[in-house]
Amino acid sequence: MVRAPGRVNLIGEHIDYCGLPVFPMALQRGIRMTFQPRPDPEARFINRDPRFAPVTFTVAESIRPAPAGDWGNYARAAAQAVAQRFPNLRGVNALVETDLPIAAGLSSSSALVVATALAILHANSVTLPALELIELLSRGERYVGTAGGAMDQAIIIGAEAGCAIRIDFHPLRLTPTVVPADWLFLVAWSLVHAEKSGADRQAYNERTKQCEEAHRLVAARLGRQEDPSYAGLLAAASVEELLDVARATLSGVLLRRFRHVVTEATRVRLAEMAMARGEEGDLTAFGQLLDASHASLRDDYEVSHAELDRLVELAREAGAAGARLTGAGFGGSIVALVRAERAAEVMAALRERFYAPRGVAGDVGQHLFVAESAAGAGVLDSEAV
Ligand code: GLA
Repeated sequence: MVRAPGRVNLIGEHIDYCGLPVFPMALQRGIRMTFQPRPDPEARFINRDPRFAPVTFTVAESIRPAPAGDWGNYARAAAQAVAQRFPNLRGVNALVETDLPIAAGLSSSSALVVATALAILHANSVTLPALELIELLSRGERYVGTAGGAMDQAIIIGAEAGCAIRIDFHPLRLTPTVVPADWLFLVAWSLVHAEKSGADRQAYNERTKQCEEAHRLVAARLGRQEDPSYAGLLAAASVEELLDVARATLSGVLLRRFRHVVTEATRVRLAEMAMARGEEGDLTAFGQLLDASHASLRDDYEVSHAELDRLVELAREAGAAGARLTGAGFGGSIVALVRAERAAEVMAALRERFYAPRGVAGDVGQHLFVAESAAGAGVLDSEAV
């Protein structure tokens, strides 16, 4: 059996594809895939959730995708990626189960990609070092048509229990920070589906292009045409200087996108430092960074949703130190930081004021939970199950 966790990104949103560090942690909730090697290259996936029809395909270097939105495309993406790396793979019969809310910004799709890859690798007695697997699968997941970064695959594979992880890109590097014992992160789903492979895909991809374009124009203005990265710009000039140049160079949407990217990068650095110190005032500081990130995602990056804004507002009113949307947005979930002793109060307030009026207070545990930082994905052999 493979277990692959979901993830909650604490801060650093929509900047992984700009090559800038992000700061997520893995969740105790995730995907369980029970599998059996097959003698041939066929792969069969059955989902315990009847909304997802069984999927069958042949593991090969080129696998034809089903129409966009088909859950099986995440399994196909993984199978094609590993088949391009290792020839003549046998397939698996697999049963997929999850306790993650689906399309809730918690990366159930990348968890499925990672679980599928690990199952197929294990069934063929081959392994790959974690960093290589992360690179392979983050490129491989583009199969579904989203021009995503590597955050999700990196945290799902490389997480450490009890820690948040700073992920640097180019080169890929994972640096853990222990989450202080009295800091709790709550996850609350807005009840609005955010389909990575569905309608939001275009809005997501459009933003990756806008970031590239904004970078190109600012780098040119600074005479740094050769510099391909946001990290290079941030190393060469302060955020204030970059924003001055951006104001003189960009306008409208591109200026707003650029401002989000460079200010969010600063917030990641400050948030990691605050968590590492973990003192009283640092929780407040981390909370303020979450609030600022949300405002930036809402106003400059334009990926929030009225229901996410409402949840964030209610969490803060109830005593959270800060809150923001997490994941790609357009729906999905929020993450809120609370001091442990206030968690029950904040959760009760969200139940009463958000979930009850929407008629789902009965199964609130599905939508609202404490994020417990978990380890990365792995295969448990049959004796351990
Ligand atoms: C999705 C992508 C990630 C990242 C986030 C936004 O989850 O898969 O790579 O870009 O959106 O931070």
